[in-house]
Amino acid sequence: VPKGSMNRMALNGSSTMKEHREEKLMKTREVENQIRKLRSVDDPTKKNMQGSKEMEELRQQLVVTSWERSRIRDKPTFGKRTSLPISQQRMDLPVYSMRSTLVEAVKANQFLVIVGETGSGKTTQITQYLNEEGLGRKGIIGCTQPRRVAAISVAKRVSEEFGCDVGDEVGYTVRFDDRTSRRTQIKYMTDGMLQREALLDPLMSRYSVIMLDEAHERTVATDILFALLKEAAKKRPDLRVIVTSATLDSDKFSKYFNDCPVIHIPGKTFPVEVLYADTPQMDYIEATLDCVMDIHINNDSGDILVFLTGQEEIDTCCEILYERVKTLGDAIGELIILPIYSALPSEVQSKIFEPTPEGSRKVVFATNIAETSITIDGIYYVIDPGFSKVNIYNPRAGMEQLVVQPISRAQANQRKGRAGRTGPGRCYRLYTESAFFNEMAANTVPEIQRQNLSNTILMLKAMGINDLLNFDFMDPPPKNMMVSALSELFNLEALDTKGYLTKLGQRMSQFPMDPTLARVLLSSVTNECSEEITTIIAMLSVQSIFYRPKDKQQEADRRKARFHHPYGDHLTLLNVYTQWENAGSNDQFCDLNFLQGRHLKKARDVKKQILTIVHQLRLPVTSCRGDVDIVRKTLVTGFFMNAAKRDAQEGYKTVMGGTAVGIHPSSALYGKAYEYVIYNSLVLTSREFMSQVTCIEPEWLLECAPHFYKAVDANSASRKRMKIAPLYDMYSKSQNSWRLSSKRNAKEKA
Ligand code: CDP
Ligand code: MG
Repeated sequence: VPKGSMNRMALNGSSTMKEHREEKLMKTREVENQIRKLRSVDDPTKKNMQGSKEMEELRQQLVVTSWERSRIRDKPTFGKRTSLPISQQRMDLPVYSMRSTLVEAVKANQFLVIVGETGSGKTTQITQYLNEEGLGRKGIIGCTQPRRVAAISVAKRVSEEFGCDVGDEVGYTVRFDDRTSRRTQIKYMTDGMLQREALLDPLMSRYSVIMLDEAHERTVATDILFALLKEAAKKRPDLRVIVTSATLDSDKFSKYFNDCPVIHIPGKTFPVEVLYADTPQMDYIEATLDCVMDIHINNDSGDILVFLTGQEEIDTCCEILYERVKTLGDAIGELIILPIYSALPSEVQSKIFEPTPEGSRKVVFATNIAETSITIDGIYYVIDPGFSKVNIYNPRAGMEQLVVQPISRAQANQRKGRAGRTGPGRCYRLYTESAFFNEMAANTVPEIQRQNLSNTILMLKAMGINDLLNFDFMDPPPKNMMVSALSELFNLEALDTKGYLTKLGQRMSQFPMDPTLARVLLSSVTNECSEEITTIIAMLSVQSIFYRPKDKQQEADRRKARFHHPYGDHLTLLNVYTQWENAGSNDQFCDLNFLQGRHLKKARDVKKQILTIVHQLRLPVTSCRGDVDIVRKTLVTGFFMNAAKRDAQEGYKTVMGGTAVGIHPSSALYGKAYEYVIYNSLVLTSREFMSQVTCIEPEWLLECAPHFYKAVDANSASRKRMKIAPLYDMYSKSQNSWRLSSKRNAKEKA
């Protein structure tokens, strides 16, 4: 992790944000008001204002950042936006000039790497070209995306271009949502879904072409598919594999795929002027908002794209900016403020693609989803605070965390490029030039080297791939991460002591969910509470169902508290779902109780999908009819590694590792003091919080995971005071004896 000003910025960015917001808002409101007055008095036609000295001074107050102008000095000029017929739009894309080259190359080579700027038409066009050439008749043309939003939005766009409904000739498959049919020839999907398909059909026999799109993102699933498809192609000479990338990793990709050819798509990009912050910004949120206001007040038309780290940050920024813009009145053109992140419903998402009306400006606050997966036309300004949220797995603590980190230089350049698609643009980097060169890493670390691999390893094992050391990873994960995933699977009894898949593990691998949850689900079948557990798992897999509007927080909290179960959040979720269903799943019930009806409906869909798999495996679905203890105990069979014990000083301490943790304020157990709890995940905000917490009896830990826990302090008279400790010896012993490659293999090599 690079040290220096970037890290300080990350800390300050989140902690001071709320404190300064009000004060800052007041101040800018004042200044903006004055500007507005001046404008309407000085010149109602809004021209000739540059000369006003008073105005310039006011502007100076608004702009807290002074910019170091570097590189290109030309002022950007702006093109006119037009909306052409769809066939013309297709022919205007840079990839169109390469059509025959691409088609011939795919016919002649099993593997092909295609490099092209984002927006050149790779994702939407290449699949169609191949289909037009008849390859879709020999099998499906599949195209993977690292993100579900991208898979869905691209499928919608392509079906529009193709002239069909989504799900007909063009469709998509993402987890818990399949929009394909027997007619489907072009199929967009998440890389995770194709990886799952490989479990049942390692040869990918339904496909004629598979395009691994956005390969530079290096998600775990894409990395695994690299190896699986390379293997499948050996046995299927007719299979075609295309790897596309926006950046210049092409040599590495080509080398990996047996030195396959690389095709470059000439970009149609315009120069982008880069402005760096003069000094490190103490609060990147404030700096971002100031920068948006600055552009909006002082610059010609052209939309703005801002990169932030996550949903909460984006929503907050949209709110603050909305307030600030209101004070401008109609002296300045309208500023349309739009968020984009994956949890947003797709109707809202598609708003960002609508052309901006004449005389107004659009500002889009996005996560790194807009770096490559989504292209928004008409962007002339990019604001890059230099951070993104990444999932990082800490194998020693056995947990995954979302951490805000400085982006890499490759990412920064990708972000910059988004400003130069429709004309020359400008990129504001809210960090110094020196931070860019000295503190940012050149490239992003592939996910496979930093994420929890238990899910992936379970799947590989289920495919019969036991020898993980010799698996053809493009970049192998660090050994300790593999060992930690293997021991987690062993603790869940998905693997035996030799590291081979157990019958239980085989069944767990059938469920597209975390192995912990899969384990809980399978235990629920034995414990006769699968009806309740499938609901809980479905509810855990959707976005928060509680809605807390800013102006009615207390009322919302009171309503939420009515659902609270004294034993914790899992049972609370069950309560909400059951009552919602009993109320006929209607919207009034949701409105009255401040529930997100959309998320509840999603949970219902997820539950249906899980039950489909349960039925396929011929497992019974039974209800425990209100026996909450059996539900809690069943949860322990999966979550026993996520147990915490009350601690006089710290609130709680995790049983494994002894990390100090608290109960998240949104939990039903907040402020309660049960001795032992289990939690779904840890979130790091101002401190480490357990989220989705349920209280348990300590003896259940011994009962459900005798291979993992032992009782200590045996002379304690009261059962309640019984102490539980992990079997560290066994744990570490098992770690050492884990075979990454089997002994058989070692012998063979010798
Ligand atoms: O994959 P690549 O980044 O090379 O480009 P693409 O995703 O195929 O996008 C090509 C063009 O299609 C973009 O410039 C957009 O104008 C349009 N597009 C769209 O309108 N809606 C989408 N969901 C995706 C693309
Ligand atoms: Mg693309």
